[in-house]
Amino acid sequence: MADIILGIESSCDDTSAAVISDGVLLSNVIASQDVHKAYGGVIPELASRAHQANIVPVVSEALARAGVKGEELSAIAFTRGPGLLGSLLVGTSFAKALSVALDCPLVEVNHLHGHILAGFVQQKELEFRHPSFPYLCLLVSGGNSQIVRVDSPLEFTILGQTIDDAVGEAFDKCSKMMGLGYPGGPIVDRLAKQGDPQKYKFAKPHIPGYDYSFSGIKTSLLYFVRDEMAKDPEFMEKNKEDICASFQRCLIDILMDKLVKAARDTGIKEITIGGGVSANSELRARVVAEGQKRGWNTYLPEFKFTTDNAAMIAIAGYYHFKAGERCSLDVAPAARAAQL
Ligand code: KG4
Repeated sequence: MADIILGIESSCDDTSAAVISDGVLLSNVIASQDVHKAYGGVIPELASRAHQANIVPVVSEALARAGVKGEELSAIAFTRGPGLLGSLLVGTSFAKALSVALDCPLVEVNHLHGHILAGFVQQKELEFRHPSFPYLCLLVSGGNSQIVRVDSPLEFTILGQTIDDAVGEAFDKCSKMMGLGYPGGPIVDRLAKQGDPQKYKFAKPHIPGYDYSFSGIKTSLLYFVRDEMAKDPEFMEKNKEDICASFQRCLIDILMDKLVKAARDTGIKEITIGGGVSANSELRARVVAEGQKRGWNTYLPEFKFTTDNAAMIAIAGYYHFKAGERCSLDVAPAARAAQL
């Protein structure tokens, strides 16, 4: 009998549900929340309310598209954290209630492990190409920037991570500072394509090991723009493509330097990326280019699996389920990774 897993994701501002059968994706429904755009960032209270409104229709739609009845599910996998507590509470409570109603096992998933395993979601009629173990994953999103060594679907070691801001935050703040909109990453990425990445230089951090820091470069951009605007109030408007291209180049250089170092030191040549920032066109091109130069096997996630989605939660849940892991009904969501 097939293992059919329903995945539920509600860690930030996307309500998502997906169904997989023996690792093969049957459906993946995502309801994004446009309400935050007007505020230039996610408003936690509004996110929880939107999850509350979306969760029933999203799960129903995922089951309907998969052609699966609740009674046929082998397990319900949900994101326990990290993320916004109010958002996580909606998905967690819903998953628990459904588990009781259907008398179906419950499996908790670490959201970050979902991003790291996103490449293992099989899609019908598409070639299934995934990294072999051990592999390195550069996990880059609005909340995290990490290099993770993955030894099996259940064994993860963080080799390095940001000591302050995540790289996605740096993209978002850059966009906000320049009045370009939210979320900033895709906007900066688009403008950068028309700009000169060599035009401006921003100070790079010197952090030992594989850790990252992105707060200094953010401040460096702030002071640079402020000083130039004092000389010419139209500076930003006239040079926004070059500013975005130069800032993006600096961020990607920082990410790549540590990834190359980690790959060299560990001798691991299976390399993947994940999280929202893995949609960035320059990062994707650089990973492929470095891979060709250094003999890596590189795996880029499909765009639909870069941002938050339940397919990745379902596949991570599938591995936990197969390993016999179950969680009890008194499980509580965990906002911070350290609590998981
Ligand atoms: O993984 P994600 O959807 O949510 C979490 O943070 O968990 O990542 C969202 C982040 C945002 O900071 C967004 O600006 C960034 O991913 N992002 C990008 C791109 N697309 C999304 N950053 C750079 N370039 C992109 N094309």
